[in-house]
Amino acid sequence: MPPQPALLPAPLPSPRPAPTSANDTLYLQIAERIAQPIRAGTLARGERIPSVRELARQQGVSLSTVVQAYRTLEDARLIEARPRSGYFVAARAPRLPEPEPSLPPPDSRPVDVSSLGEQVMSLATDPRYISFGAACPSGELFAQDRVRRAVSRAAQRHRASLCRYPIGPGHELLRRAVARHALGLGCQLDARNILVTNGCQEAISLCLRAVTQPGDVVALESPTSFGFLEILESMHLRALEIPTHPRTGLSLDALQLAFDTQPVKAVLAVPTLSNPLGASMPLAERRRLAQMVAERGIPLIEDVLYNDLAEQDDRRRAVKAFDTSGHVMICGSFSKTVAPGIRLGWVEAGRWGAQVRRLKAVHSGGHTELLELAMADLLTQPGHGSAYRQLRTTIAARVDEARGLIAESFPRGTRVTDPAGGFILWIELPGGLDSTALFEACLAERICIAPGTMFSATGRYRHCIRLGVGGRWDEAHRAALRRIGEIARTMAERSAG
Ligand SMILES: Cc1ncc(COP(=O)(O)O)c(C=O)c1O
Repeated sequence: MPPQPALLPAPLPSPRPAPTSANDTLYLQIAERIAQPIRAGTLARGERIPSVRELARQQGVSLSTVVQAYRTLEDARLIEARPRSGYFVAARAPRLPEPEPSLPPPDSRPVDVSSLGEQVMSLATDPRYISFGAACPSGELFAQDRVRRAVSRAAQRHRASLCRYPIGPGHELLRRAVARHALGLGCQLDARNILVTNGCQEAISLCLRAVTQPGDVVALESPTSFGFLEILESMHLRALEIPTHPRTGLSLDALQLAFDTQPVKAVLAVPTLSNPLGASMPLAERRRLAQMVAERGIPLIEDVLYNDLAEQDDRRRAVKAFDTSGHVMICGSFSKTVAPGIRLGWVEAGRWGAQVRRLKAVHSGGHTELLELAMADLLTQPGHGSAYRQLRTTIAARVDEARGLIAESFPRGTRVTDPAGGFILWIELPGGLDSTALFEACLAERICIAPGTMFSATGRYRHCIRLGVGGRWDEAHRAALRRIGEIARTMAERSAG
């Protein structure tokens, strides 16, 4: 077949509101019709797929529907456009199998996360170490000049702000910018109900404090964020870990069973790009989760920190979008997408708004107004949406490369997640390899990884590690990643022979 002219779709505003009607989902159906044979291997890597025009004719849909479908498939790294040649199945890194769904015990546990976690976090900023241990993106991923300009503009325009006490829920301009931002997550929030916080971590802490007492049971994904376990421990809460699938997230059947059998006081979940699995719940499951918590009157603390990094539009839609009863407390921040150093987050706590606001006033008061104004400026700048898209593309290429290096260098039988966005990989080592021993061996070579036990209150995941590949990325980091695999291979060979 002669080469066809490239049909490069016009950029769409991003993040886009999630689809809401059958018409809007047509492009997703078309995308899925192409995605299925790619995932099954029926369409091979590098194989040409129909042009936009051909597919529109075949499927009896408009050109723009196909353009949108192809854009979705590109975002999911399933296809790629080649200039002047057309669209092809993407040449992806060799695939390793994904980890099994988790199966934590059915009862709750007090939390006692070891000092190991603190060590891993402190090494993340130690220049003597190459760190894959923390989920911290590095500066070069962000529009640093744009951030600097926004801060100096705010300093110029709002000179008086530094000498004013910042009392109240946060600067109105930022709260309005957050409400606008939330439209991209499918949520219509009233800016008056939004509270500005010190990152997402504080938002989650405040929500938990508002709805629980020491000794209460909190249901959460398994494995879960180390930061969540630290909060639970500090508040003397019990963790009830729920089976979680590495791609589709929290098992809602298991959560329903937990509601029936355990005194669950709150659910704390990351429905999009959970940490460390990188799982994202399908849209129908999000709707069901909103219904389940409403029926039981149990608060869901929803962490949307990573939603803007999700490759597929429908995975960016928050559970909060389906909340009609105020049972979802949505928490977010811009630490992973705009500027980690500005350290601002937000929460809309539904029916617990007043309690959360009071706790915030007592706990930490207001914020540096200047930074709030700079963030509001950044969120409302015209190029803001396309910066997210750029970030997703950069990270996707990085993760793909890292998965390729893992496939080449880790021992046979290794499993690794294939997250649809974000920069966190969860690795299951074969043959019961001890990740704490691997951690120690890597540390001796000034490489830091996060051992799996950090991510559970149950002592599970000893054979797993988490790698964050959002930090610096250069030859030394590639070599370090290969080296982790070599060390693991040597350990595997020793234990086999
Ligand atoms: C799932 C999750 N929630 C919250 C946080 C903390 O966010 P912030 O830095 O905005 O406080 C992290 C940080 O890694 C995280 O992974």
